[in-house]
Amino acid sequence: MKCAIVFTGTYGSTEQYAQWISEKTGFPVFDIKSSALNLADFDSLIIGTPIYYYRPVIARWIQRNLTKLLTKRIILYTVSGAPGGSKLNGWLEESLPSEFLANAQHFALQGRMDLARLGLFHRMMIKIGSLRSSNGEASAEEWNGFDYMDRNSIAPIVEATQLLHSAGQDSPQDHLAA
Ligand SMILES: Cc1cc2nc3c(=O)[nH]c(=O)nc-3n(C[C@H](O)[C@H](O)[C@H](O)COP(=O)(O)O)c2cc1C
Repeated sequence: MKCAIVFTGTYGSTEQYAQWISEKTGFPVFDIKSSALNLADFDSLIIGTPIYYYRPVIARWIQRNLTKLLTKRIILYTVSGAPGGSKLNGWLEESLPSEFLANAQHFALQGRMDLARLGLFHRMMIKIGSLRSSNGEASAEEWNGFDYMDRNSIAPIVEATQLLHSAGQDSPQDHLAA
C-alpha cells in the first residue's frame, strides 16, 4: 500500500504537522501545488488543510480531484484555531462533498496564528472578525493570536495510518521510522 501526505497552507502550521507525521510514518510529503505530485501513484492519502473563514482551504482541490479521491483511503486533518467538535464538523459539512466526508477519517488539530506574520489583508480580516465576534474566547484569539502547535496531537493520526496498513497488504512496521 502506498500512502502520501498532501497539504496546503500559508503560514506553515499545516506543513509542520505534515512533516511531523512524515517523520513518524516515513510517508512522502507534497504541497498540492507540487508538480511532483501524481495522485495515481498512491492508494491512500493523508490530506492536511487549514481552516480560513470557516472553510477548509483545500475544498476546491478536493472538488477538482473528487473522482480520484473516492477511489482511495483518506485521512483528513484540519488545522484551525477552533478545537474539534460540532462547530468544526459543521464547517466541513458545508464546504466538502458528503461522499468525500463519508470516505474520510477526520482529525482536528489546532494550529498557530502569529498576527505579526499575517499578510495585510488577512490581518485586516481577522481584526474585523474579532470586533464582530460574539464569542469572547474566539475574539481574544483573533485579536492576540495563538499557538496551539503540539507534536503529540498527531498520535491518533499515526495510529490510524497503522490501521489503514493492516487493512492493506504490507506491514506497518515497513514504513515506520525508528
Ligand atoms: C485569514 C485567516 C482566517 C482564519 N479563519 C479561521 C476560522 O474561520 N476558524 C478557525 O478556527 N481558525 C481560523 N484561522 C486560524 C488558522 O486556521 C490557523 O492559524 C492555522 O494554523 C493556519 O494554518 P497555516 O499556518 O498552515 O496557514 C484563520 C487564520 C487566518 C490567517
